[in-house]
Amino acid sequence: VGRARLMSGRVWYQHPTQCWALGSVAEAQGTTVLVRDADTAEMTELPLEDPKSGEASTHPCDPSHMENLPDIAMMNNLHPAPLLHLLRRRYLEDQIYTFTGEILISINPYMDIEGLYDIPDMEAGDVGEFFLSQRIPHVFTVAERAYKAMRTNPLRKNQSLIVSGESGAGKTEACKRIMQFLAFLSEGYSSRHDDRAAASGAGAASATATATAAAAAQATSNIEQRVLDCNPFLEAFGNAMTLRNNNSSRFGKFIKIEYSRGAIVGARMRHYLLEKARVVSPQSGERNYHIFYQLCRGADPATRAALGLDSAPERFRYLGSGGTTTIPGVDDAAEFEEVVAALTDVGIPAGTQASMWRTVAAITHLGDVDFVPGSVAESSAIADAAVVERVARLLGAADVASKLVTREVRARTETVTVRLTPAQAREARDALAKAAYDRLFSWLIRQANRCLESDHHSSAFIGILDIFGFEIFDVNSFEQLCINYANEKLQNLFNHHIFVMEQSQYASEGVDVTSIEFINNQPCVDLIERKPAGILPMLDDVCRQATRSMNDDKFKTRLDQAHKGTHRFYGSTRQHNEFVVAHFAGDVHYRVDGFIGKNNDSLTQDLRESMQSADDPFVRLLFCDDPAAAC
Ligand SMILES: Nc1ncnc2c1ncn2[C@@H]1O[C@H](COP(=O)(O)OP(=O)(O)O)[C@@H](O)[C@H]1O
Ligand SMILES: [Mg+2]
Repeated sequence: VGRARLMSGRVWYQHPTQCWALGSVAEAQGTTVLVRDADTAEMTELPLEDPKSGEASTHPCDPSHMENLPDIAMMNNLHPAPLLHLLRRRYLEDQIYTFTGEILISINPYMDIEGLYDIPDMEAGDVGEFFLSQRIPHVFTVAERAYKAMRTNPLRKNQSLIVSGESGAGKTEACKRIMQFLAFLSEGYSSRHDDRAAASGAGAASATATATAAAAAQATSNIEQRVLDCNPFLEAFGNAMTLRNNNSSRFGKFIKIEYSRGAIVGARMRHYLLEKARVVSPQSGERNYHIFYQLCRGADPATRAALGLDSAPERFRYLGSGGTTTIPGVDDAAEFEEVVAALTDVGIPAGTQASMWRTVAAITHLGDVDFVPGSVAESSAIADAAVVERVARLLGAADVASKLVTREVRARTETVTVRLTPAQAREARDALAKAAYDRLFSWLIRQANRCLESDHHSSAFIGILDIFGFEIFDVNSFEQLCINYANEKLQNLFNHHIFVMEQSQYASEGVDVTSIEFINNQPCVDLIERKPAGILPMLDDVCRQATRSMNDDKFKTRLDQAHKGTHRFYGSTRQHNEFVVAHFAGDVHYRVDGFIGKNNDSLTQDLRESMQSADDPFVRLLFCDDPAAAC
């Protein structure tokens, strides 16, 4: 920054508590600058450059910085300071959306903003042109753009909307709004075609057209309703209360909305990486999945008794170990009723629902199965036979008790029964709980898809990706590493798409652009995933070795040896058992305790076979090798 220019007007300066604030330079001497705050007139002395980042501590304020721009791309002399201030000013006026070129930025208002999602009367205008033509920063505009491109652009028929941001940012909410608006556009399309067909006379052809449009309109409202119908049970089984969000999605979801011409004819859902570790060890201050608490509190007394459950879920180790079982303002019993209604609506019969509850209850009781050293060295015995008997009864698998404490090793000619130590038996128990829950969730997604699919042929889709957001807690574990890895990969894809591909396109068209600088996160992706020394391959390797002398600390030592000194990885100065990864969204301290156990969800073959031959057909279905074919 030239000194004369610096002295001439207002500047953004690095504020000790507010990140960036507006002020004016009172004095610039040598390597320091004295700034007077625009609001408080307080004086702050700063080095000309931030000693750590080398960034200038002040940035000239341009008149465009003070305008209420709907698109950051319209700003001159762009810098993080005016960008953040613009977002803040807009947020304070309930304008939570701002464009930056094609990308929409959204800030979670944590309250309902009146009228924000009202759909205006668009009948006069063309469907798919309303928000877009005015470039209103809004999720509806993004949805409209995708819809229009799908309808009109022959090269880019299929569209996808990617919603990203940290946990609690409002991604899932945004996806719901997008879907709602797409359903509206689809209905508008259908009714317009309806009108035209009616207006063109009563010939046989137009009668057919009317019938088709009416069927499509019917399909749309059904699909929207059906997607909504699935929400209560998908959230009950896939969401949990975390430190960031009382209703945090713990799985990634990609919904494909299928179109025939302009009308929705069906939908398909795919899920990614349900956070299984939560089933057996919710973190401190968090809950397990909602459904466990809903079932305990919401089931009628007779069902509760038959399942051996209690209206005080904290009595069960898996449900109480996070230290909290209630969510302020949420009535688990009432939510349970909604879940049952939703399951019934999508056609899951009462008998199947009863099987689902038995499985959920069995998982709950599994957490209370514990082991003591057995009579023979290196073996274990079940501490309380009554608990495991309950699990066996609920699953219809009488041999579960013996399969939890032993493992059969099949050699070529004989089978040897190996006893498990109490620690190994606990691992086997947790693996069974996680597998059962994960399979139950996948089964639910299949039921949702069954109810969303249609007989109509679809010609294009609009996809909506809603993944679990980036997480930085005080204490971060294996779950956060997985979630943050997924976000790091998504960021990588985004960088590649926006920067690398655009630039290569300019180059191929002979346009001379100075290369755009961006922070490439590939080194961080490599640090996590690259074989053999990446964090995850190394963890897999350690888990495979499964020697009794291997533990989390030794895993950490191996990581240190492989990565110390690389700038994306460093040892924590806070705790000896933590390592730090410098992610694109910030540095995260990961505590290594439990990494091996959490990554080790290898269900023993014996337990799997025990489930595959259970008396309960529902349990057999969950564990069959090709579940998609079986239901
Ligand atoms: N646009 C919005 N308007 C009002 N409240 C919102 C909005 N977006 C999010 N919220 C609130 O924030 C909470 C967390 O949002 P959610 O979409 O679940 O976050 P994420 O999926 O990013 O973790 C929601 O339960 C809701 O209370
Ligand atoms: Mg979410």
